[in-house]
Order: sequence, then C-alpha cells, then structure tokens
Amino acid sequence: MKVTVVGAGNVGATVANVLAHKDIVNEVVLLDLKGDMARGKALDSWQQAPIDYYSTTLTGTESYDDTEGSDIVVITAGIPRKPGMSRDDLISTNAKIVTSVVKSILEKTPNPIIIIVSNPLDVMTYAAQSSSGLPSNRVFGMAGILDTARYRAFLATELKVSPKEIQALLLGGHGDTMVPLPRYTTVAGIPLTEMLEEDKINAIVERTKKGGGELVKLMGTSAWYAPGAAAAQMVEAIVKNENRIFPCCVKMEGQYGLKDVFLGVPVKLNREGIAEVIEIGLNKDELAMLHDSASHVKKVMDTFDGMNL
Ligand code: LAC
Repeated sequence: MKVTVVGAGNVGATVANVLAHKDIVNEVVLLDLKGDMARGKALDSWQQAPIDYYSTTLTGTESYDDTEGSDIVVITAGIPRKPGMSRDDLISTNAKIVTSVVKSILEKTPNPIIIIVSNPLDVMTYAAQSSSGLPSNRVFGMAGILDTARYRAFLATELKVSPKEIQALLLGGHGDTMVPLPRYTTVAGIPLTEMLEEDKINAIVERTKKGGGELVKLMGTSAWYAPGAAAAQMVEAIVKNENRIFPCCVKMEGQYGLKDVFLGVPVKLNREGIAEVIEIGLNKDELAMLHDSASHVKKVMDTFDGMNL
C-alpha cells in the first residue's frame, strides 16, 4: 500500500510520521512545493525507523510523478490560521491550492481515496469531491476525530480518568457551529450525564467548539499533533479494512434531512472508504444545531462556487 501526503507543513509531516509508526503501509510519499522541506522531513522520519522499529519507507518530493499508484492521498496543503482568523478566512487561498492538488493527483492516480485536512475543512472537502468527479465515498474530510478527541481530552482532565475511557460523538461542520453530543458520550459505558453536572458539560462543549482557536492563540499557528494523528487513524481504518465508526466530513444525501452539503456525521470506514453514513436519532435541539451548522457551511460552499475555479 502506498499513501501520499500532500503538504509537508506541521500537519502533513505529522500524518507521515504517525503513519510510519503504525507500520501498516509499504510507502509514504510526502509531497510539497518546497521539495527540500519534504525531502528533509521524510529523511528525518526515515532515520527514526531504526529507533522506533518500522519498515514503512518515507520519501519527500515536489514531483507528482512520485505519487503515481497511491491508494490513499491525504491533502493537508494550504495556509494555516493566524490568531484572529476563522477557518473560513482561508478559503480564497486554500480553495485554489486544494483544487489544483486534486487535479495533479488524478493525472497520476485516477481512483485514489482522498482524505482532506485543509481548511475550511468542510468546504475544501466539497471542493475536492466536486472537482475530482470521484464518488463521494472516496473523498471525505478529517475533522470529527480531532474535535471529539479534544472533547474527550477535556472530559478526561475534568473527570480525572484515562482518555481511553471516553467514547463520544460529535456532528456538524469543523468550526464554532460543531455539535458535540453529551447524550451520546459515555465514560467506560456510563452515560456522561451521570458522571458530570450539566454546567460543567456545557463549559466543555463550548471549549471544544473553540478548541482549534485556543491552540492558534497559544502558538500563533494551528495545531498539528492531534490533527495529524487523526488523519493517520483514518488511513489505518481504511488500510486495515477495520469498519471503524468515526465522525467524518461527507456529502449529505438526504440523511438528517440534509442534501448537497458537506458535514461531519458518523460513518463506517473501511477499504472502500465511506462504507455507510450512520443516522442516529437526534432530539429537536440537536437537529436544529446540526441544521444551523449545515447552513453555515453551505454559505461558505456558495462562496467557493462564486470563485468559479
Ligand atoms: C484545528 C485545525 C487543524 O482545528 O482546523 O486545529
């Protein structure tokens, strides 16, 4: 199996490095316009192999020729947020980058699975899927695993339990309108609502929604460890045909009463890509929040359409 990671910035390099550590694919190609940066980070990760014991080879390149025959392509290319910016502010730059990357990839590999990580995530997934012409089960976005991971980490700290014990679900766009679902959150199988008071849950939900921004404020740029690990986890589920259930950004085709909008929902992920979109029962408030998130994403999708790329 061969995986290409486009973009050798912090997130792309982390995807490549975490993936190599899983030792589940033969080859990771790290591609960036800055070829030496890609070569350097790939070489550095390869030199970690004798220490951490993995066989996955890593190569860096600026040439799409080297991406030929990729089974999976993870696209992280684009600029990250600076303090004060929303993810949507990135659209004019990143939409051009993502659509041109998709085109170049498809010239070498006609039918890959594509995972989008670039922001604004939901709209970049739309851009990639619509410009690729690939079926929507083969082009989807990473956001929900990251956002639920933040939510789970905050809960683990508050409850003083291992993050391993927290199972959670989160819907909606990758932005401040995301919809964490305390009703579908458990601590070792125990409903969260039995473990933590409502006001504390609400505070964690609010912190989660702004979780990316909290890190941008601290570091002056956006996060990479958890985002990179989340994308690598999606690759793993595909490569190992695991049928794992994760919140991922996909095209809605009537589920949850939504159509032609890209949004995070629980899906089953296996060798085919998205094997199934799972529709869970939502109460009136949850459904309203999901539809609010969808209309926010739709507006930014319209901005993308107006760019006529
Ligand atoms: C974040 C970026 C990757 O949420 O969107 O940190």
